[in-house]
Amino acid sequence: MQDFKGALAFITGGASGIGLGIARALAAQGACLALADLREDHLAEAVELAAREGWGDRCLPLKLDVTDRTGFAAALDAAEARFGALRVLVNNAGVGINGPIVEASFADWDWGVDVNLGGVINGLVLGLPRLRAHDLPAAILNTASLAPFIPARPLRGIYAAAKAAVVLATEHLALDLAETPIGVSVLCPGPVTTNIHQAALLRPATYGEASAAFLEVENEALTGEPPAPGPMWRDPLAVGELCVGAMRERRLYVFPHPEFLPITQKRHAAIEAALVLSTPG
Ligand SMILES: NC(=O)c1ccc[n+]([C@@H]2O[C@H](COP(=O)([O-])OP(=O)(O)OC[C@H]3O[C@@H](n4cnc5c(N)ncnc54)[C@H](O)[C@@H]3O)[C@@H](O)[C@H]2O)c1
Repeated sequence: MQDFKGALAFITGGASGIGLGIARALAAQGACLALADLREDHLAEAVELAAREGWGDRCLPLKLDVTDRTGFAAALDAAEARFGALRVLVNNAGVGINGPIVEASFADWDWGVDVNLGGVINGLVLGLPRLRAHDLPAAILNTASLAPFIPARPLRGIYAAAKAAVVLATEHLALDLAETPIGVSVLCPGPVTTNIHQAALLRPATYGEASAAFLEVENEALTGEPPAPGPMWRDPLAVGELCVGAMRERRLYVFPHPEFLPITQKRHAAIEAALVLSTPG
């Protein structure tokens, strides 16, 4: 998709962190932004920022829980009523659920999978017919993570499992849409300076009780100092600009952290060695 001017971009989790970084990068290209987010404080701050940066009239804040399919369809309707046909769909909302997978309860699994994978599924099922209803150039970007590629990292089991599914679903989607005007990309970042350490604030009671081990990690994240950014940490706007470049050039993978190459190579080497070992003859 070469030209974003006047095009509707719908971004889940669009009012904070990476989603807002993508929104700002798209706004700089003239896009109209629907920022769909669960946190009203983030939505209010994003609206103020859009006004300060001069794209307030191209910004529509929408309160949305991506696990609510009826609400998701209504949010897409509202965005299209305001800015016309959907052209860019960014399934980005996610929660950094952390804890030892060996202790995980159904509540931990259900929340982690419903938002991090289910939110993307809902976006695809509800958004794809809208993108395919016209022949204009369009783009889908799903936010996954580096987590599926570096399984040595502790406490990330549920998160990595859900994000791995996002990567695979996006790869298959790219195959299905290869001959269409819809480009497909998946973002796989390492650390980015965002509010993801506050994710536990959003854990709904409806899933039941979190396991004690997960609660301990979540309380630490909420009450402790936010992680101190080091040289590996990226700025959300810089990540957003990479995403816009990938959408423009129809590139599937967006990996903003080249310093993680050795650790991903280690995993791939182990898989390749196992494949060779199990090759008959
Ligand atoms: N920050 C990182 O280091 C990092 C690394 C890899 C991947 N990611 C992924 O990037 C995406 C964005 O996260 P971020 O780091 O910008 O965090 P963030 O917390 O700053 O932004 C996420 C936004 O998503 C919203 N959200 C959470 N659950 C939601 C729901 N059910 N429905 C609608 N909105 C919801 C939050 O309110 C928040 O505003 C997530 O998918 C996350 O997993 C982040």
